[in-house]
Amino acid sequence: MNRNELARVAHAMVATGRGLLAADESTGTIKKRFDKIKVEGTEENRRAYRELLFTAPGMAEHISGVILYDETLRQSTKGGERFADFLTRLGVVPGIKVDAGTKPMPNFPNEVATEGLDGLAARLAEYYSLGARFAKWRAVIDIGDGIPSRTCIETNAELLARYAALCQEAQIVPIVEPEVLMDGGHSIERCEAVTDEVLATVFDRLLAQRVYLEGIVLKPNMVISGQKAANRASAQQVADATLRCLKRHVPPAVPGIAFLSGGQSEAEATLHLDLMNRTGPLPWLLSFSYGRALQASALSAWGGAAASVPSAQREFLKRARLCGLATLGRYESALEKQAA
Ligand code: 13P
Repeated sequence: MNRNELARVAHAMVATGRGLLAADESTGTIKKRFDKIKVEGTEENRRAYRELLFTAPGMAEHISGVILYDETLRQSTKGGERFADFLTRLGVVPGIKVDAGTKPMPNFPNEVATEGLDGLAARLAEYYSLGARFAKWRAVIDIGDGIPSRTCIETNAELLARYAALCQEAQIVPIVEPEVLMDGGHSIERCEAVTDEVLATVFDRLLAQRVYLEGIVLKPNMVISGQKAANRASAQQVADATLRCLKRHVPPAVPGIAFLSGGQSEAEATLHLDLMNRTGPLPWLLSFSYGRALQASALSAWGGAAASVPSAQREFLKRARLCGLATLGRYESALEKQAA
């Protein structure tokens, strides 16, 4: 393993002014997004949609890397260049989702563990040969009546740590993603307590597996009220609680933190990141790895029509530009009103 190279790639993924586009929706998830805009979930439609995003003019100014799905890593632009090669040529690092999704945990109702370790070493070697230089594994922790259990947190943390060690062995930077969901009616205080326990356990297991912390990117949830909470905490409270929680658990050796958007609106996810980046100095770079918060407007502008590609690209570029500003603490809500 070349540690310097892992650290270099991890740093490039979160370098100031840029962040990650999560375009790694599984075939099932992208079908749900396409259903909403009445687009059929065919392989060609998935390819065309991803091409729209990756070829948006100037996207590399704000996007440092793209998380791809297995199918997408094997697909090409209309011009016949593989997406991974196309992105690399633009200076955008291609990455790959390697987990196999979540499965219910026996004996733990309403809790899930993430699958995908079987055969992972061989898959990572292939992904590297196809151009991927980082990977993603998402663990999911739900908050509810009596959950999460200690066993659910420990199981998912151990899986994340073993995945991370296998990635580094294959010279691939692991994105370590323990997502505490914002579904439900819980308070921000409850989210903070659970996120505290999850991050403490994840870093304990990463150290136990001797993961090289300088060569990972953490992808956490923000500390935020549940979507259905009666009184939702303010944007400043979200920024303060998230930073407080991260400072308790994330060693400064970790080069960067790239948040997931997790169901926040595009503007909310951008504002929260910006507020955090206005509070300095911080021991790590704070960036984004958004799926929905970079794509929602672009998807509806596209609607599956070739003629709408330019306007969908403009919507995507607007989000990428505003998220880029948020990594610098230079975003203003007034910018939302500007035309895409
Ligand atoms: P969202 O930003 O839509 O939560 O997606 C990010 C992601 O990659 C979740 O695994």
